Amino acid sequence: MILRELINEVLYQTKYMTNRVGIFGLSTMGKNLALNFVDKGVTVSVFNRTPSVTYSFLKENQHPNLVGFENLNDFISSLERPRIILLLIKSEAVEVVLNELSKLLDSEDYVVDLGNSYFLDSRDRHQRYRNKFNFVDCGISGGEEGARHGPSLVLGGSNFPAQVFDVLKLVSARFGDEFCLGYFEGDGAGHFVKMIHNAIEYAVMQSLTEIITLLFNLKEEQAEIIQKLRELEHRGMSSYLLGICINILEYDLENRILHRIVDEAGQKGTGKWCSQVSLDWGVGVPSITCAVEARQLSTYFNSLRSSPGIKVFNNSVLKPPSVEILYDVLNLCYLCFYDQALRLIAHANRNLGYKIDVSLVFKVWRAGCILAASHLNQLSQMFHNSNYLDLLSNMNLVERFSPSIQDKFRSLTHFVNCVSDSYSYAPVIFSVYNYLLGAFSNKRLGFSLIQAMRDFFGRHGVYLDGSGQLTNIEWKK
Ligand code: 6PG
Repeated sequence: MILRELINEVLYQTKYMTNRVGIFGLSTMGKNLALNFVDKGVTVSVFNRTPSVTYSFLKENQHPNLVGFENLNDFISSLERPRIILLLIKSEAVEVVLNELSKLLDSEDYVVDLGNSYFLDSRDRHQRYRNKFNFVDCGISGGEEGARHGPSLVLGGSNFPAQVFDVLKLVSARFGDEFCLGYFEGDGAGHFVKMIHNAIEYAVMQSLTEIITLLFNLKEEQAEIIQKLRELEHRGMSSYLLGICINILEYDLENRILHRIVDEAGQKGTGKWCSQVSLDWGVGVPSITCAVEARQLSTYFNSLRSSPGIKVFNNSVLKPPSVEILYDVLNLCYLCFYDQALRLIAHANRNLGYKIDVSLVFKVWRAGCILAASHLNQLSQMFHNSNYLDLLSNMNLVERFSPSIQDKFRSLTHFVNCVSDSYSYAPVIFSVYNYLLGAFSNKRLGFSLIQAMRDFFGRHGVYLDGSGQLTNIEWKK
């Protein structure tokens, strides 16, 4: 009761004021983003379906620029026009909320979906709500810390949402003087870019896990492992994810917690969407798919490994790979992950009418997000002025880095041999190995045999060199 009176007092004080931004949804991300705005001097209205969540948030964070509402109509009336409502809710709830808001807003108002929504749903929503309000799809990255102190943000839509852009600029992360905030033309393009971000996130997390796990499996001292990871940072491989791995291992050295965490990985689905889309579009992204499947299989593997019927493999003890080898392996991993992601972006630009400037994508990922890494600056410069419609004609990463891949591939082969000999688990790094073999091996890849079999049993035809015509072979004489 006291709490309610306190909140009412805040409400009354500001009853006739209008606020610049409305935050709908006070989960971790919503709360932290609201506080980030307040820090920047922006007046904020907040609303949550469950009023008690709003009450406790306001109680803990009393500030004249922060006002909460129990009633959706009051929340909307409290906003400056055109209203800017930022949705930070679960993707499953977005449609219901948009529908509700469509009855209360005007066509010049903005509703920005900052959740991890599926980009094709967002694409439809741009159409569906076109005359009701301005819908903006927006990927936000950086977790709780990012939302509170500066996330990386990617906006989509057919029209540049200038007012939303200006407001989000106030809270976005910065790389030097530049904002980690980008607009990508195309309905759903913001959520598409976020999906790609998350897919690479899966692959990077899995590859780091595979490297560190190999070192553990080869009985390297934990302090030594941390030292090697630090060395990778010093050699120019620093990234947010590598940094948190070091933090986790250091914490574990003191508290011995890692081995007590159940060996099964969760996921919310954005990585899976990327694999699904890649299969639908015929653009293979094997490392991303391996990372998604590794998480999916982890529960199955864990139950198998604890089953009494399973006789576990025994590993041999080898020398752990040097930091030079790890450096090369991680480099090739990044190269392949970005190559795969770029092929998907190129497909979306060509076939969905998106105008995704990859140089800008890499720019906005340089800080604030989970993928933040030192190499992104170099990548953004490399793709400066690239033609979004013809992205890969002269920018194919694997081709471009071909000379340096040759040397690093020896390290990768050494690493893969260590993995095999020690029975460590490394599906993503093996996928990178095969991806590069597919591009560079001077041996047969074998697809002609696949075609021969298809023709043998189904008369699907084969192309003979130089003919350009589908031909059936009389296999059975
Ligand atoms: C980010 C993250 C974030 C992600 C969650 C859950 O950029 O801040 O990518 O948006 O969705 O961390 O991801 P999974 O549950 O799919 O691992």
